[in-house]
This record gives sequence, C-alpha cells and structure tokens, in this order.
Amino acid sequence: MLVLGIESSCDETGIALYDSEAGLLSHALHSQVAMHAEYGGVVPELASRDHIRRVVPLLRDTLAQGNRSLDDVDAVAYTRGPGLAGALLVGCAFAEALALAIDKPIIPVHHLEGHLLSPLLSSTPPTFPFVALLVSGGHTQLMRVTGVGEYELLGETLDDAAGEAFDKSAKLLGLPYPGGALLSKLAESGTPGVYQLPRPMLHSGDLDFSFSGLKTAVLTLVREHADDMNDTFKADAARAFQEAIVEVLVKKSLKAMKLTGLKHLVVAGGVGANKQLRATLDDEARRKRFGVFYPELEFCTDNGAMIALAGCLRLQAGTPAKVAGSFAIQPRWPLSELMR
Ligand code: KG4
Ligand code: ZN
Repeated sequence: MLVLGIESSCDETGIALYDSEAGLLSHALHSQVAMHAEYGGVVPELASRDHIRRVVPLLRDTLAQGNRSLDDVDAVAYTRGPGLAGALLVGCAFAEALALAIDKPIIPVHHLEGHLLSPLLSSTPPTFPFVALLVSGGHTQLMRVTGVGEYELLGETLDDAAGEAFDKSAKLLGLPYPGGALLSKLAESGTPGVYQLPRPMLHSGDLDFSFSGLKTAVLTLVREHADDMNDTFKADAARAFQEAIVEVLVKKSLKAMKLTGLKHLVVAGGVGANKQLRATLDDEARRKRFGVFYPELEFCTDNGAMIALAGCLRLQAGTPAKVAGSFAIQPRWPLSELMR
C-alpha cells in the first residue's frame, strides 16, 4: 500500500510517500522559519499563503524522487489537527482535491500521533509497547503506547510545553525565533552550575510537568543581569535553563519507565532533537538497562513522512478511510480523544 502524506499544521509544509512494504520512499519539506523570523513568531495568515505556494512543487519533487506517479498512490493522508486553522485547511483541501482526482480514499491524521510514531521511521525502530515522551512546541506528555491508536496518558504539562519554554526563554535571552535549537546550541558553550534555576514539579509524585515557573525564573535572571547581558552570561543562563528542563524531563521519564515496567522509551517531537536530553537519556538507559529510541533528527520537527507513516499504520490497523469530500480539520484536538 502506497500512502501520500501531507503536513501543513504550522510553519512547515511536508509531503512524503510511504510504502507499507518498502518503507519511506521519498519526502520533501519546506520550512517557513526564515519568513516568520522577521515577525518574531508564526504569522498564521502568512503561513497559510505559503503552504499554498509550496504544496504543488513539493508534491512534484516527492513523486519524482520516489519514482512514482499519482496513479500509484493508494490513499492520501493529511494532518487534520491540531494546528493553525488556515494552515490545516490548505493541506486538507489539497489532500481532498488529490484524492478526488485519483479516486482514492483519504485518511485524516492527528499531528501528535504522527510525532509519536515517527521513531518507527528510523533504521532501528522500537517495538510496542513503549513509553513515549512527546516533547514538541505545543505539547509535553508521557504516554503508554501499546499499539497504533492505543495510547494511555500518564502525565502532561499543566501550563507551557517544553518547546514553548525553550522558545520563550530563548526570546528572553535575545535569540531570534524560533529560539529552541539556538538556545540549545548556546548552552553548549555555557558553564554548568553558574546559575541555579528551579526544577518545577520534580518531586510532585506524579508524571505531570509545569514549565511556566522556569520561564519566569529566566525572566528574573535576565532582569538581574540587565546591565551585563554579555555572551558569557547568555551562554551560562542558557546552560542553566537546559540543565533544569532536561533534568525534569529525564527524571519524569525514568519514573514512567519504573511505574509501567516497560523496557522501551520513545522520545518524539522537536525537543527530542536536544543533544543534552539525548545524551542524558542514553546514559540512564544504559545504567537502567532499557532501550531508548528517537526519530531521525530530520523527523523530530514537523514533516510529511510521519503523517504518511501514521496514515499507513492507521489503515493497516483497520481505521476506516474516508471518501473525499468532507474537508475535515480540527485545529483543537486533544490526543486524549484518540485514546481508549
Ligand atoms: O515538534 P515540533 O515541530 O512542534 C510542534 O509540533 O508543536 O517542535 C518544535 C519545537 C520548538 O519549540 C523548537 O524550539 C523545539 O521544538 N526544538 C528544540 C530543539 N530543536 C527544536 N528544543 C530544544 N533543543 C533543540 N535542539
Ligand atoms: Zn509538530
């Protein structure tokens, strides 16, 4: 079965071809980061318009790279939500039009389910069941995943998401949008221990998170150093922030592993690209003898490959495809609605 995947929930347009036998055949991505950077954040209307400009050329590239034509496609998967309404509508309308033109079914995909399953695209994929730490720009959740569509929420953030905390702290340190990856780069040159920041809810006894206090602590630190915001301060502050957030994410993940007794941990979403998070989890996994799995770096942030994969796995798991024509998007769509 050959599935075409379309992602357009935020500021990346992604298209991919996933074959149930051969795996990922090809994928193409356009990031709008440079366009939004001028405004310091995503401008929804500009995002929608840019998706419109990009989808057709990206589809052509994907088909050419995969050496396939539209006639070979068996189903069209697209991101139904959550995300920006206008941006989602572009991907949805494009998917609907394609499905109608080739007379093939359509499969709406939950964006977070795409992230959650993205480590299955790697050369050493995890097997079910596993604990998933989903750390993206909009979500931070720990889940027990027993199969496709079988998700149990173990804990989640009560306020800011991990990626959001990275981005907001980066902004406070004067880094351009989207600051998460830049902050993490800067932290590499910082000295650990120069500043101490709080580890919110580290000892809360549950698997929930809270990151807004950490961001406020960065704000306070920045205000205290308003007169000497030099490169050394910024690097040390970035390091302190990263140490704090990584410690909370790792400790809570370890607790989830202990509580569930599972042997595989999967890390997905943009923050899963963070080097310190990966290195610390790898160490702990070696010490505690469990396996830890990540998506390939290019599939940590938004992409079409994870949507094509999730669509294909859903169809294989028996989720009914839809006949083109419903134009369904769901900008707000808690993953809990997919859980049993
Ligand atoms: O998964 P994603 O595309 O977001 C949502 O679907 O919501 O991930 C984007 C998030 C951003 O907040 C970005 O700053 C963060 O992932 N991010 C990172 C790194 N690379 C991306 N955060 C920490 N370290 C990184 N290396
Ligand atoms: Zn995402």
